[in-house]
Amino acid sequence: MDRRGFNSLCTSLLTGAVTIHSSVQASSTPYPRSQLVFADGNDVTLDSLKTGESYIFSYPYITTPCFLVRLPSTAPAKGIWPGGLDTDQSVVAFSAICSHKMSHPAKPISHISYRAEPVSFYDSGGQKQTREGIISCCSERSVYDPANAAQVLSGPAPAPLAAIALQSDSDGRLYATGSVGPDQYERFLNKFGFRLAMEYGVTDIRARSGERVEATLAHEFSHQQVLC
Ligand code: FES
Repeated sequence: MDRRGFNSLCTSLLTGAVTIHSSVQASSTPYPRSQLVFADGNDVTLDSLKTGESYIFSYPYITTPCFLVRLPSTAPAKGIWPGGLDTDQSVVAFSAICSHKMSHPAKPISHISYRAEPVSFYDSGGQKQTREGIISCCSERSVYDPANAAQVLSGPAPAPLAAIALQSDSDGRLYATGSVGPDQYERFLNKFGFRLAMEYGVTDIRARSGERVEATLAHEFSHQQVLC
């Protein structure tokens, strides 16, 4: 049995459902499962995600933003990260909290975004690179590769973005089920808690995302996106 088949079997044993396909591994930190839905209430499905579009959803807390993207290329497993979903492994989700100084998509403005178009940056060897399908933080210009476990391609970020574990069911509906790798949720909530409570209009910033969580197009989630 290959790795993907093994993952699906494990999930089936845990959930009692034989139709779930999962990107969860034992090294993930599990959180309560949240189904991803659009603002109109329709299910987010694998087929509904178009290459080039990026969405923001809050997980595992109602105030911690994440990216959901269908990449233009496959995103194979690496280390503890199980890779993308769908037959071409191109559907991925990552925490949108930069590992440098925790820049993140806020409703008024975002300095970190998924970039479908070619973007130029300087790699760690000082060589100029131009790539599409990267995540770029314009606060201090860190660049991440979402097709490679969100590894750092450029800039001062000390670590990859935390990955969000995804599942899909037999109808292609998507669920977030956990977080993979080091994350910054507590540090983030402690630092920005007061502002997050105001921005999201909540009293409990640590409330879990719930059974259904809304995925919003990134350019609609933030009124302004800073691109660099
Ligand atoms: S906060 Fe993202 S590069 Fe500094």
